[in-house]
Amino acid sequence: MMDTRTPSQSLTVMTDLVLPSETNPLNNLFGGELLARMDRAASIAARRHSRRITVTASVNHVAFNRSIPLGSVVTVEAKVSRAFKTSMEVYLDVWIEDRESGLRDKANEAIYTFVAVDETGRPTDVPPITPESPVEIERFNAALRRKQLSLVLAGKMKPKDATELKALFV
Ligand SMILES: CC(C)(COP(=O)(O)OP(=O)(O)OC[C@H]1O[C@@H](n2cnc3c(N)ncnc32)[C@H](O)[C@@H]1OP(=O)(O)O)[C@@H](O)C(=O)NCCC(=O)NCCS
Repeated sequence: MMDTRTPSQSLTVMTDLVLPSETNPLNNLFGGELLARMDRAASIAARRHSRRITVTASVNHVAFNRSIPLGSVVTVEAKVSRAFKTSMEVYLDVWIEDRESGLRDKANEAIYTFVAVDETGRPTDVPPITPESPVEIERFNAALRRKQLSLVLAGKMKPKDATELKALFV
């Protein structure tokens, strides 16, 4: 049995500017650039939790709630929210900071799934995780539903077997 870890042990924080080559015609950060930044941060978080090679299995949810203007300072925070057998859910929060006040404002969030693999690309077990803060506990508890939804959408699970997901509706 592997030692349990906490979400904080996987915390990954990446701060960077929005440069002109990374914007759309409205001079806001291009969505694909933000996806790439989030994928990199999530990959590091998954690696910190599993201490293995990790690959992106799915992007479960992305909400581009706010545009991020050219010149913004953007911080992507990633943490493993739940570990299953070989897969991990990684929750991302994206913040932008006001130049004058220095205060941070939540811009976006996303949820990715990573799988730990060996050198041949075969899935391998990851350590369990114990959430600590109320937000970590909430994210941990909802992660199984999200995993089942992702598997159903990917055609890897029959809807009738998604018991956690069905419990939301019946
Ligand atoms: C991700 C990958 C390793 C999964 O391999 P697989 O043969 O489907 O392996 P399994 O069916 O045993 O699934 C492994 C784990 O991934 C989970 N998983 C697979 N697809 C998933 C999806 N779409 N959503 C959520 N979880 C998923 C499974 O539930 C399982 O989790 P568990 O062991 O924690 O219960 C394989 O599909 C792969 O290598 N994909 C390419 C990854 C890649 O190159 N990413 C970058 C894209 S450019």
